[in-house]
Amino acid sequence: MFIIKFGGSVITDKRRKNTFDAARTGRLVSEINLAHKKTIVVHGAGSFGHILAKKFELHMGFKKQEQIRALAEVQRDVKELNLMVLNAFLENEISAVSLAPSAFLLNENGLVKSMEPSLMKGYFDMGITPISFGDVVLDEALKFSICSGDQLMLEFARAFHPEKAIFVADIDGIFTSDPAADPNAELIPVINGDSFPAVKKTESTVDDVTGGIFGKLDIMFKIAALGVETLIVNGTVENRLKDALSDKEVISTRIESKN
Ligand code: IPE
Repeated sequence: MFIIKFGGSVITDKRRKNTFDAARTGRLVSEINLAHKKTIVVHGAGSFGHILAKKFELHMGFKKQEQIRALAEVQRDVKELNLMVLNAFLENEISAVSLAPSAFLLNENGLVKSMEPSLMKGYFDMGITPISFGDVVLDEALKFSICSGDQLMLEFARAFHPEKAIFVADIDGIFTSDPAADPNAELIPVINGDSFPAVKKTESTVDDVTGGIFGKLDIMFKIAALGVETLIVNGTVENRLKDALSDKEVISTRIESKN
């Protein structure tokens, strides 16, 4: 089985609050359908989460009362996004169900403290595709904090031992520098302990409360260290996801364990 994360920048316009890209999401889901693979899917929050979460510093935990209203709104907004993603699966003949992290997982100091995987496993074993997403969750030290889709990918890699973890991004992979600003930027096809120092800041972190590219890479290294093949593929280009699911050569960055 495969675990897949749709980055928030792929399925939403990260700069414009609550704008969902239905066409792109539908196309990505149809690629999963065509690949005929069993999957667990995670999606990011994009502009349905980051903008308000950053404004009210929800990733820092409880500091003032006005955050409580923002917490409720962000939970509502990411659920709204999730419902649209879920519909894309049902419209593409994939029976999927949604599971909100706020209902099966607890954080401590911004990191996952405990997770209950049996619900997800129960649905998966019935042939259903479980879908989860970046969310605001309870935190045993901070009262609440954010659980990113990337953190969920690590937890699911630990719990389900997938054959691949695929991060669907809006870029071909990790570059030597920002390809939008530097014409000499080169795609790094494989990143491991040796090539890691070559990675510079290649992503603008517009309203991102979950760590940007280095936070992502750190999680990806942890997934790779579990023996799970970990790939970043460009979801804005047709068939990259389908080819990655079908074990075809695909333009991507593969993350290898640092050691
Ligand atoms: C963020 O999840 C969750 C919230 C801000 C509530 P992610 O960090 O996985 O989202 P993207 O992929 O960066 O948009």
